[in-house]
Amino acid sequence: MPRKTNSDKNSEKIIVTAALPYANGSIHIGHLLEYIQADIFSRFLKLTGKDALYICASDMHGTPVEVNAQKAGKEPEKFALEYWKEHQEDFMRFFILFDNYYKTHSPENRELAEYFFAELKKKKYIYRKKIRVIYCPYCARSLPDRFVRGTCPLCSAVEQYGDVCENCGNALKGVDLINPKCSLCGRTPNQKESEHYFFRLSAFADKLKKWMKSPDSGLQPEVLHWLNGWMEKGLEDWCISRDGPYFGFVIPDSEKECGEKKYFYVWLDAPIGYISSTKNYCESGKSGKCNWKDYWHKGQVYHLIGKDISYFHFLFWPALLMAVNIPVPKLTVHGFITVNGEKMSKSRGTFFTAKDFLKLYPAEALRFYYASHLDRSVVDVDLNFEDFKAVTNNVLMGNLGNFCYRVLSFAAKNYGKVGMIAVEKEHEKEILKLIDLVKRHYEQQDFKSAVKTVLQISDQGNSYFQQAEVWKNKDSKEAKAAVGWCVNLVRNLAMVVSPILPEFSMKLQTAFGEKKWSWGSVDFSWKGKIVQPEMVVQKIEKVPSQAVFPLQLTVGKILDVKDHPNADSLYVLSVDLGEKGKRQVVAGLKKYLPAKSLLNKTVVFCANMKPAKIRGELSEAMILVADDGQNVGLLEVQKTPIGKEACFTGMENCKKEVTFEEFKKLQMLVRGCRVMFDGKKLASVNEDVVVRDVVDGAPVR
Ligand code: 2FM
Ligand code: ZN
Repeated sequence: MPRKTNSDKNSEKIIVTAALPYANGSIHIGHLLEYIQADIFSRFLKLTGKDALYICASDMHGTPVEVNAQKAGKEPEKFALEYWKEHQEDFMRFFILFDNYYKTHSPENRELAEYFFAELKKKKYIYRKKIRVIYCPYCARSLPDRFVRGTCPLCSAVEQYGDVCENCGNALKGVDLINPKCSLCGRTPNQKESEHYFFRLSAFADKLKKWMKSPDSGLQPEVLHWLNGWMEKGLEDWCISRDGPYFGFVIPDSEKECGEKKYFYVWLDAPIGYISSTKNYCESGKSGKCNWKDYWHKGQVYHLIGKDISYFHFLFWPALLMAVNIPVPKLTVHGFITVNGEKMSKSRGTFFTAKDFLKLYPAEALRFYYASHLDRSVVDVDLNFEDFKAVTNNVLMGNLGNFCYRVLSFAAKNYGKVGMIAVEKEHEKEILKLIDLVKRHYEQQDFKSAVKTVLQISDQGNSYFQQAEVWKNKDSKEAKAAVGWCVNLVRNLAMVVSPILPEFSMKLQTAFGEKKWSWGSVDFSWKGKIVQPEMVVQKIEKVPSQAVFPLQLTVGKILDVKDHPNADSLYVLSVDLGEKGKRQVVAGLKKYLPAKSLLNKTVVFCANMKPAKIRGELSEAMILVADDGQNVGLLEVQKTPIGKEACFTGMENCKKEVTFEEFKKLQMLVRGCRVMFDGKKLASVNEDVVVRDVVDGAPVR
């Protein structure tokens, strides 16, 4: 927990940031968790009168953008700018309100990156060293780690990128890959020596340790644990340059010093983007002129990030800031998003872009759901759609929305104004205490508790309204006064919940005919005109349901291949289906594939086939193959663990037993080395299922 947020000093300048998203693909519901989290926090700070700015930008440089730009056949800058625009539209639709949403490929960022570098150099925190890099002679270029694929030296998983093995999770270096292949031309690259710039991270070990241990750093316990581990391992100096061609800033003097241009590694100038976006905001005079230094040197900066980028934000970035004498920000790490308990997946139909989500549900339902789960801990947040529906309909709508709407409608319809307010000193005292508690929860970024407390308040309001039975004698003084009190409670509630539900709050504000609420507007003496509010929350009728595919398609490994004792065309395979156990499978493949091309392959089986004896041998599953009349291809995977299922996009597998007759009716076929059914593609959570050696249109049987 941050010990103290200093939010009592109203003059304080505050920056809130969310990680700069790569401008290389669409924003999805996983991203939104963090942007909503930071938006709630910055809206809260503003509501309490702080000079807070919510700052972000598109991360435009480096291989992530270059790879996707190349796939799209576009220049990286043009490609990234398109996403820069799209991201801003998506954020706006979720009421994520940045004070500035800038970009890292900008003059301000270049200037600041050069400034950081010059300072580091001056203070001798930069040195040059020759290292080996991967070079593709056919493409005549050095290959960044993401441009080379090969076998992981640690776990032997094939087809891994040079930066990280998706199978064992270890960080790799391109030069360590076994049997590397250039992802551009597919040929074998070699290595060459290349001179690079290194940042002496090791020189900051003591300072970082001191920072980590100071209570003021406000580190989450999990993060402190990671940091201790990293420190124990020892800090390696950090290579901050890359060879060209690279989409990024050229390092000043690099051509003179190294004989060729070198570029800043994307992770050097990305966090500097937090500052340059502030600088751009201040200097463009978007809201009067200001100076970024007042925020970064004298104010308080809060970064919100995902756990995957912790190393950069808790080691590299603080060290860089220390080197240029900028105070280290306060950091909050959140967990990942899972959907219905599992990693988001296109094949399971649980991967939603921001836009797709909005086709089905209102933005504020997601804001409310996420807020209800965010408590500044590092644990993952599960977006369970049944739960999402229940929270939206029963809590957001049933409790909070219903109370606010009911009270204001009643007041608008029957009186049109509030002229009398019941004197309820005890109630008020209690409510004000709860509102103060909400404030503390917001300050500590414990939005889950803030939501709980808000609901406690609206519960009390609901029972007060219910007990007053104002509808029985509408025109009595008592009824008018009781409604007047409830209207005031609604006004307070709508105000304190506005960081989470800005649209909801705005609609209510309109009913009150007011312009700008602040935390200081909390009060029980408001009188005035009330107009009928717009319906504030929408009910959710349906959650995404998945179509069911009748086969339980499961990845298995062929452990053994024997000839069938009684049939010339059949093999008897022994197959490992992971959690589903070992099975014997009879397969009519002898004419097409030699035994050794089957052995040790990881391929797709149908695991719910009714067991049958085939010429006297039990077959407990079926191997799937594509057959174009000439050649037969297996349905292969590389990275999927044994026992995992493969599904067609948006469909779920069925577990119920199927017969061979039922199987034969399913028309699966191959298109572009992929298996298709009804226009949907077969994939596991990790990858597409791939079929080689057969022509398009080949049926799968
Ligand atoms: O991981 C990412 O998506 C990075 N683009 C985050 C950068 S955050 C900051 F350092 F710029
Ligand atoms: Zn190549």
